[in-house]
Amino acid sequence: KTPDAHVPRDPRLIRLTGVHPFNVEAPLSALFNEGFLTSPELFYVRNHGAVPEVKDEEIPDWEFTVEGLVEKPLSLTLRQLMAEYEQITCPITLVCAGNRRKEQNQVRKSKGFSWGPAGLSTALFTGVAMSDLIKKARPCKKAKYVCMEGADELPNGFYGTSVKLNWVMDPNRGMMLSYMMNGEMLRPDHGKPLRAVIPGQIGGRSVKWLKKLIVTAAPSDNWYHIYDNRVLPTMISPELSANEPKWWVDERYAIYDLSTNSAIAFPAHEEQVSLSDGPEKYRAKGYAYGGGGRRVTRVELSLDKGQSWRLADIDYPEDRYRDVPDQILYGGRLDMSWRESCFCWCQWSLDFSVSELADAKDIVVRAMDESMNVQPKDMYWSVLGMMNNPWFRVTISREH
Ligand code: MTE
Repeated sequence: KTPDAHVPRDPRLIRLTGVHPFNVEAPLSALFNEGFLTSPELFYVRNHGAVPEVKDEEIPDWEFTVEGLVEKPLSLTLRQLMAEYEQITCPITLVCAGNRRKEQNQVRKSKGFSWGPAGLSTALFTGVAMSDLIKKARPCKKAKYVCMEGADELPNGFYGTSVKLNWVMDPNRGMMLSYMMNGEMLRPDHGKPLRAVIPGQIGGRSVKWLKKLIVTAAPSDNWYHIYDNRVLPTMISPELSANEPKWWVDERYAIYDLSTNSAIAFPAHEEQVSLSDGPEKYRAKGYAYGGGGRRVTRVELSLDKGQSWRLADIDYPEDRYRDVPDQILYGGRLDMSWRESCFCWCQWSLDFSVSELADAKDIVVRAMDESMNVQPKDMYWSVLGMMNNPWFRVTISREH
């Protein structure tokens, strides 16, 4: 019996780290076939330790504070948050910084466990804008960061991290505190009853089981902020990084905005592409996302290892939630017309003739965002194996 015995879980999820803590992703084809929004059952989970147990009847009394370099510290219950602040709803894709780490581990073992390409999920999050709370608390002049603290008890204390105060105050960055996903209260694995949702940035910034926002002059000094979620220079080996803490404390190597990324869901690895007496066309499909709210502007595929490329069609379901003024969804105002940021994955597709697929060894995808950040051909290996985003490749398996 693990400390998480109270948490319901779906058997389709693939466990990445033994029995406890719970770290899982769905098979990519199942995740992709669900469409734009991910059901809570298949939403990836990244837990550093045991899930705090919060009973339904305790949800309204969940207490949290806004403190630190503010003129008016706040102490609120979730009931007050829901009653006194404007509620908003937004579609947001969360992505673990370890998404696709398995490919790095195959080249050289990193210190992280092997995520496949399904370490991401999308939901309509309902809650309040983080900026509304911070404004109410009135930050002092020296304030530069907002630290977040979770309620989970871990080997190195609670889980905590920070983001810049000016990001929190920027509506185009859409940072929020959320208590609801796809219209139902958060499930235990996803932060029940309250979490931060930091769109466009690595999932590690979206602190679950949120207890405190602390406004500070310096980034978080929490153990998990310093020794997790970093891309150290590629020459730093596991041995060197273990013996020389100076590599970790350098805030330059902390990662925030996601890197541009994409993956192929179909054909799946090991999928037998039928090359005889089937249909003449095969539709390749997959996902892509940009970081920091940047839109993916092109997705390209190659059957000849990148010598020539073809342009895929891109569908951005997130756009269908824009420009719907005054619409209330799950009790929150769904109005994204004031911002153009893209916080969700998009889905791409491209038809190939079956005969040309038959002649190819593999199929490769790369995405580019509006700032022309393009996925690199080569991998950037680093000791934590994070932000892995080289061209994604699937070997074509033939069925004759
Ligand atoms: N918050 C707390 N309190 N404890 C955690 O272990 N994991 C972080 C983040 N917030 C974590 C946390 C990481 S690394 C990720 S990727 C996301 O939560 C995962 O969110 P999810 O499990 O809801 O998908």
